[in-house]
Amino acid sequence: MKETAFITWKNIYSVGIPKIDEQHQELVQLTADLYAACMQGTESGRLYFKRAVHDIVQYVSFHFSAEERLMERIEFPELAEHKKQHEHFVKKVLEDVKKFETGKGIVPNTFVRFLRDWILTHIAKEDQKYADYLKYAKKEESVADMFVLAEPAKEGEPC
Ligand SMILES: [Fe+2]
Repeated sequence: MKETAFITWKNIYSVGIPKIDEQHQELVQLTADLYAACMQGTESGRLYFKRAVHDIVQYVSFHFSAEERLMERIEFPELAEHKKQHEHFVKKVLEDVKKFETGKGIVPNTFVRFLRDWILTHIAKEDQKYADYLKYAKKEESVADMFVLAEPAKEGEPC
């Protein structure tokens, strides 16, 4: 993983579920890529930024659905609240992306800082809650099962 001072994965962000940690690391990397694009300040940087935004939006959607499937499976009591936070975040990101694409001027730097702060705070506070629930309330779940749980369903597969 590339190191940047802007955002870097640290072990303190680990929620103790390997598959989820991997996905969080990818989110951190995509945010770092977005920041790198943002810092170029050139026309090719702008195109790179556009592609990087698209990549992160896709990945966020994949990751949130994986988390929600996991929370459903373990019957996490705060699932509805957690889902709302995901939805709120996606809505805000899509609004900003639309503004960017229609030239209505979001400041890329502010947008990337928002992404970074939201992602890191969400991992540390909110994702840690379902991870703790899994650890303490659902001890019978095997580690192997957790890996399976974190995989989103392939198209056409029953949930
Ligand atoms: Fe989450």
